[in-house]
Amino acid sequence: MRVVFATAELSPVAAVGGLAAAAAGLVGALRRSGADVELLLPDYGTIDTTGSEVIELDVPQWAGPASIHVVEHPVAGRIHLVSCPGLARSHPYLQPDGQGWLDNIDRFLRFSQAVAAWVLLSKPDVLHLNDWHTGTVLAALDDPPPTVLSLHNLAHQGHGPGSWLASIGSRAEHFEWWGGINQLSGAIALADRIVAVSPHHADEIRRPGGGFGLDAAVRARGDAVTGILNGIDTTVWNPADDAFLPAAFSSGDLGGKDRCRDTLLGRLGLSDDGSLLAVAVTRLTDQKGIDLMVPTLELLDDLPLNVGILGAGDADLAAQLAEIAGRSERFAFIDGYDEALSHLMFAGADLFVMPSRFEPCGLTQMQAMRYGTIPVVTPVGGLVDTVPDLDREPRTGRGVVARAAEPVAIASALHRAVRRFGQRRLTTIRRRLMTIDWSWDAPAAEYRRIYDQIS
Ligand code: ADP
Ligand code: GLC
Repeated sequence: MRVVFATAELSPVAAVGGLAAAAAGLVGALRRSGADVELLLPDYGTIDTTGSEVIELDVPQWAGPASIHVVEHPVAGRIHLVSCPGLARSHPYLQPDGQGWLDNIDRFLRFSQAVAAWVLLSKPDVLHLNDWHTGTVLAALDDPPPTVLSLHNLAHQGHGPGSWLASIGSRAEHFEWWGGINQLSGAIALADRIVAVSPHHADEIRRPGGGFGLDAAVRARGDAVTGILNGIDTTVWNPADDAFLPAAFSSGDLGGKDRCRDTLLGRLGLSDDGSLLAVAVTRLTDQKGIDLMVPTLELLDDLPLNVGILGAGDADLAAQLAEIAGRSERFAFIDGYDEALSHLMFAGADLFVMPSRFEPCGLTQMQAMRYGTIPVVTPVGGLVDTVPDLDREPRTGRGVVARAAEPVAIASALHRAVRRFGQRRLTTIRRRLMTIDWSWDAPAAEYRRIYDQIS
């Protein structure tokens, strides 16, 4: 089985969010299962390509010159790095001031033309696209191979001026959207299978209001739309063997978790007054709902709870969190993206808070559970599939589910967690969480079944 897999992000080469980890995890597992995967990634200019094999691509003049460098990466394995004008930048999407690059639409339209050109040369059994950055590959190919489109985040669709429609290929009309171009809408119409990254989100995006304007397009595809829950890389996320932690631990021996907790409290500048420690590790965007926690953060003097947030993104929210942390004994905020600290936070915390407004899958709740940290979540997307409520399902529950993505409901869920978890109950639940299999093997096998069905 030969697969061309195109993605705008890949851990650890170009990682912005969960797409990077999901692409790396899925491709790794597909390769281990014997699939021959050609992994196409934009050449953002961070990898030295000198001496690597170069293949020139035949693309329309506006998208070129385009070429592929085939490199062997020590962690990600073989990558086909796609070069075309404008792709190489200091960040895949953002300028140094945090605003998107003004030509993001054009950059990924060009990338998609290059991917299409490669598909014509390579003639794979299956083409696997991910998110809007790769959507218009299907505009450029008259007769594409059987195609799977994974939807990691439907909130981003790559809207641009309609003038592009004249340039992107013979099936451009599927990408016309209220006079403009929508780089995702046509891919939803044209792919053979559409995979949302969790089963619950596959239902949500069919509902009016749940599909970010594309719900009718999703509904029109009927049974072609399914959900496959993401996995996580269980070798990277392994409390028994994690170089970022001061002590190892496992479901059978939780002692090391207490040492991680002490170290974490020290890093956060919080004192151990016996309260539970809740953390969040997150992008600061509307999606993640951290702003919905602000009223709770203001109430921490009245609640036996310490809170630490590691987050990067929205500058106004970061300033607000820093201001609250500056006058609170119980709340710490660390502004930034810090992989090493994130491991310590998953390991050292008692609770992991994820107040998302929507969440296609979410990886962090799984990472938290892998480290025996109990998730407190909103009832959306992949959080529904991965976190049954402990009070509703005492024997199989995994966390505390708020009634809604609203400030009062989130405060109330945290309050419930504080009331419920005596030390003994924590230990039993931690052990339960730590033995769940979150590896990519089962999701990759589901994708393989889809590949087999369509090829
Ligand atoms: P999303 O892709 O929507 O941001 P996911 O939960 O799917 O959410 O994936 C986010 C990934 O990025 C996780 O691996 C998480 O550990 C990591 N991450 C998010 N924010 C930070 C941060 N501030 N510092 C370190 N890692 C982070
Ligand atoms: C997106 C979604 C997140 C998902 C990730 C990987 O970034 O926001 O929920 O886990 O993609 O599929």
